[in-house]
Amino acid sequence: MASAPVTVTITGAGGQIGYALLFRIAAGDMLGPECPVRLRLLEIPQGMRAAEGAALELQDCAFPLLSAVELSDDARVAFDGCEVGLLVGARPRGPGMERADLLQANAGIFGPQGVAIAASAAPGVRAVVVGNPANTNALIAAAAASADVPADRFSALTRLDHNRAVGQLAAELDVAPGDIAGVAIWGNHSASQFPDVSHATVVRDGDRMPVTEALAARLGGAAAATAWLDDVFIPRVARRGAEIIEVRGSSSVASAANAAIEHVRSERLGTADGWTSAAVLSRGEYGVPEGLVCSFPVVSDGTGYRIVEGLDLDARARGRIDASVVELAAERDAVRSLGAV
Ligand code: NAD
Ligand code: LMR
Repeated sequence: MASAPVTVTITGAGGQIGYALLFRIAAGDMLGPECPVRLRLLEIPQGMRAAEGAALELQDCAFPLLSAVELSDDARVAFDGCEVGLLVGARPRGPGMERADLLQANAGIFGPQGVAIAASAAPGVRAVVVGNPANTNALIAAAAASADVPADRFSALTRLDHNRAVGQLAAELDVAPGDIAGVAIWGNHSASQFPDVSHATVVRDGDRMPVTEALAARLGGAAAATAWLDDVFIPRVARRGAEIIEVRGSSSVASAANAAIEHVRSERLGTADGWTSAAVLSRGEYGVPEGLVCSFPVVSDGTGYRIVEGLDLDARARGRIDASVVELAAERDAVRSLGAV
């Protein structure tokens, strides 16, 4: 017997990432080939026509797993019965807008959406925030929903950063991305993030070896490998979003949608192949202040992300993580002063 459809709510569904998400989710890429899905699309009035157009195209695909598509510009309607929320729609930084203005504008979006999730989502709802500043927007939504939804049901997307790090290593080591494991993204989804390879491994001639050793062998020694990591790899991954904006003329779309799909799939279906990265609620792990939504290495057994604990961090790693956490705490303090958390 076919299982009941899972209700997936996508905010900003009429936007670019929304368009890249909808068809893959309806095709079964996110929840698996056996899982029917009901899509609820949330847009603001100005975005409704684009979302309606996408809904018409979804109908024209006749996806066997797609049981319904419903559109609304009312968050309570769109989150009704929501089991998986993808919170994509956000206010981009406009000309002359300061960071505080951006945080305030997004508090006005993610606060009410958190309230709507608390009021009308399914009891087991989980939501991932894609819209920037993603970590702090997740914090805002979680705080607004906290009377009814545990805060650890909210996460933010750093899977794109994780995939970018794997992609850069694969290119440098001339291996397939699937040969690399154990990369971790720590901190904020911003240029302050720390893409960490100190526990990463790569398959070479049938054996697994540390990525740092493989880099040293390729680049002519440990010092050259460290220099490449510090001067090329870390800035390249951390600033990849800006690079994409410069080259494409707008921010990443297909890779962001792919990462959001992988984030939800790993959380719901489990991380059989080792850890991945996601920004989740800190309970003080690795000295990150409790209550921040921070990227960590995470695993899931299908019931939600859990932080991988007990990894050794050297002084370099500690310094970089601390710097990103300082930025996260400053964002939290800014939205706290606005009364949003
Ligand atoms: P976009 O402008 O094409 O689409 C955003 C959509 O959100 C628009 O259709 C807009 O009408 C809608 N929207 C705005 N406010 C809304 C609200 N209150 N409720 C519902 N919908 C609303 O932008 P995009 O390219 O799809 O990017 C969306 C967000 O994702 C941006 O904030 C971008 O910076 C972020 N992003 C994050 C990552 C990541 O890895 N975390 C990667 C890429 C992009
Ligand atoms: C990305 O990492 O590609 C985006 O978060 C960049 C952006 O500012 O939208």
